[in-house]
Amino acid sequence: MRYTAINRSFYIKNREKLAKELKPRSLAIFHSNDLMPTNADGTMKFRQNNDLFYFSGIDQEETVLLICPDFPNEAMREILFVRETNEHIAIWEGNKLTKTEAVEISGVNQIKWTSDYEGMLSQLMVYCDHVFLHTNEHRGASKEVETRNARFIKRIREVFPLHNYQRIAPIMEGLRAVKEQDEINQMQRACDITEKGFRRVLRFVKPGVKEYEIEAEFIHEFLRNGSRGFAYEPIIGSGENSCVLHYLENNKICNSGELILMDVGAEYGNYNADMTRTIPVNGRFNPRQKAVYEAVLRLKKEAVSMLRPGTVIQEYQKEVGKIMESELIGLGLLDRKEVRNQDPFNPLYRKYFMHGTSHHLGLDVHDIGPVYEPIKPGMVFTVEPGIYIREEKIGIRLENNYVIGQEENLDLMGNIPIELEEIEELMNA
Ligand code: GLY
Ligand code: MN
Ligand code: MN
Repeated sequence: MRYTAINRSFYIKNREKLAKELKPRSLAIFHSNDLMPTNADGTMKFRQNNDLFYFSGIDQEETVLLICPDFPNEAMREILFVRETNEHIAIWEGNKLTKTEAVEISGVNQIKWTSDYEGMLSQLMVYCDHVFLHTNEHRGASKEVETRNARFIKRIREVFPLHNYQRIAPIMEGLRAVKEQDEINQMQRACDITEKGFRRVLRFVKPGVKEYEIEAEFIHEFLRNGSRGFAYEPIIGSGENSCVLHYLENNKICNSGELILMDVGAEYGNYNADMTRTIPVNGRFNPRQKAVYEAVLRLKKEAVSMLRPGTVIQEYQKEVGKIMESELIGLGLLDRKEVRNQDPFNPLYRKYFMHGTSHHLGLDVHDIGPVYEPIKPGMVFTVEPGIYIREEKIGIRLENNYVIGQEENLDLMGNIPIELEEIEELMNA
């Protein structure tokens, strides 16, 4: 583990929160993610299942957590199964968690080897009526690949067909959306590492650099600061690529006079930063680029002031859209009269600003969390307006991460340069 872990008291508290949400005689079951294959004997980097991590802090494959808060035998109310190591694993893969280490990380006292799992599961199932299972219900989730949790659901329903099976997802959405200080600290670390990367890039960029060379500058700074890497595939798009929302090739030469849109964030301890900055390749914005940049920055500031406890994201998006309309009219991109007569379900601003302004952020970059309910203090959101003018090869997005506070929002990226003058100054220092 290369990051400083959150203290186990956080995971204990999370399990207590879960216990309050479950009906009597409930069992909640959480599995690790699979180690995903690539080709031949290759695998992707392991990424823990976020719900399992949220309740245990265990960052190791083949882990299972059972939670049955009212089980008559108190010692079996929480059981964590970890992979038993052996000489072969020790030689080829190195250390795996010992039972003592697993207790220290998670605060779960009952640690078993995964080989004991089937037997103990049966004991709990006989007592329980309700079984809460993990399904990935993110609105954007791809369902193509069957997860370990999905395989398990099929199997358990076959073996115990008469239990009452329920979704854990709605409970997780409520719990994970409101962050504890421990989580905010990890996210602040991720943002601070992202800042280091960005400052390095400001010194590095000049006409003739390649987009992937910029990517290399970021990852160098991320890794040397304890991050395991990018929070998501980085978007580094210069010139016309700044208008491609999910541009990932990052292979073009950056030319003088163009802008570079960089949507890049570091992960830290499985928590994420999600930053976007747009900078001029030659270190100076031209007047048109300046005008668009200032419009996006103004909009971002207004959006942050609207993102407060009680706000509902859907309504906020509509309000942001109205401000965007007037900015686009100011830039000569929309006509006031046409805006007045537009179809309200298909507003004209969407031609230049076609994505959402904010999403929850946390263990997932597009974190799970309610979007139809009022925002609560402790939630963390991105604010990321953008204007994309393909015919002018100008794409500008600015994105920071905010903790919603009772009195005011905390900008986790408050130290990352964003004002136009500061960007120019640092690029020309
Ligand atoms: N990096 C993905 C996003 O901004 O939502
Ligand atoms: Mn982003
Ligand atoms: Mn984002």
